[in-house]
Amino acid sequence: MNRAFSPFVHSMLLALLAVSATASAAEEPKPAAAPAVAVKADAAKGATLYADGDAARGLPACVSCHGAAGNSTISVNPKLAGQHESYLYKQLVDFTTPQRNQPVMTTYAKMLSDADKKNIAAYLGTQLSKPGAAKNKDTIDLGKKIYRGGIAAKHVAACASCHGATGNGIPVQYPRIAGQHQDYTVAQLTQFRSTKADARKNSVDMHTIAARLSDDEIAAVADYIAGLK
Ligand code: HEC
Ligand code: HEC
Repeated sequence: MNRAFSPFVHSMLLALLAVSATASAAEEPKPAAAPAVAVKADAAKGATLYADGDAARGLPACVSCHGAAGNSTISVNPKLAGQHESYLYKQLVDFTTPQRNQPVMTTYAKMLSDADKKNIAAYLGTQLSKPGAAKNKDTIDLGKKIYRGGIAAKHVAACASCHGATGNGIPVQYPRIAGQHQDYTVAQLTQFRSTKADARKNSVDMHTIAARLSDDEIAAVADYIAGLK
């Protein structure tokens, strides 16, 4: 009798075992997820994306506008080489918000993943910035005065107090502006000053400061900044 039942009992046992195995697997607490390790930015990946873009996503090569290793030679496109990594990342994020709505960069920034943004920022942050030069002898004194001492009568703080005496900025808060193209700096100060809906509004400090500057003062300080090393 035993033998006759044994295959049946055996299969019952197996079935029970299977059920209990499934049940216990379901009840067992899942192994804790690996502790959240901050993913380190991959500058090498950033360099490739910067130089080649990504045709599959329709993403153009950044190098075509911002120059080799971030040293743009086109005055309306900012130099990015040697800019603080955290600032570059912040701008790429800001471009995806109404805080810094700029048709070209907003389109591209929206195509970049968060990791892409971090990788590119890590790459550009370590590149060496090529110096620029001031061009207008007539305004250099005014530019220097504004940069170093501000304009007391208009309550304009010295640019140097935040961007540093040599324009290197202070990570994480204050960007490097030394050696930047005049045209780009003028455009940004004009943007910060503007109250239009699509103006750059990602810094209350810069809005307040720029709102007190005339066109001539903006041109003078931008020219002085281009020559800072
Ligand atoms: C067609 C030209 C063009 C291309 C291509 C381009 N950019 Fe730009 N980029 C610009 C212009 C113009 C600005 C200035 C925008 C403004 O006036 O606010 C800018 C601004 C920026 C800034 C802000 C710099 C600062 O000092 O605030 C960053 C960062 C940037 N671009 C990164 C990139 C990256 C990364 C790529 C590639 C994915 C890229 N750009 C591709 C034209 C371009
Ligand atoms: C109280 C501190 C402070 C002072 C003073 C200050 N800045 Fe700034 N500036 C900032 C901050 C913060 C930012 C970055 C804003 C952001 O996150 O986009 C900035 C950004 C800029 C930018 C944009 C850089 C870029 O690459 O897009 C320019 C240009 C600039 N400042 C010029 C000036 C000039 C010129 C003066 C003096 C007239 C000045 N700043 C004074 C804090 C300051």
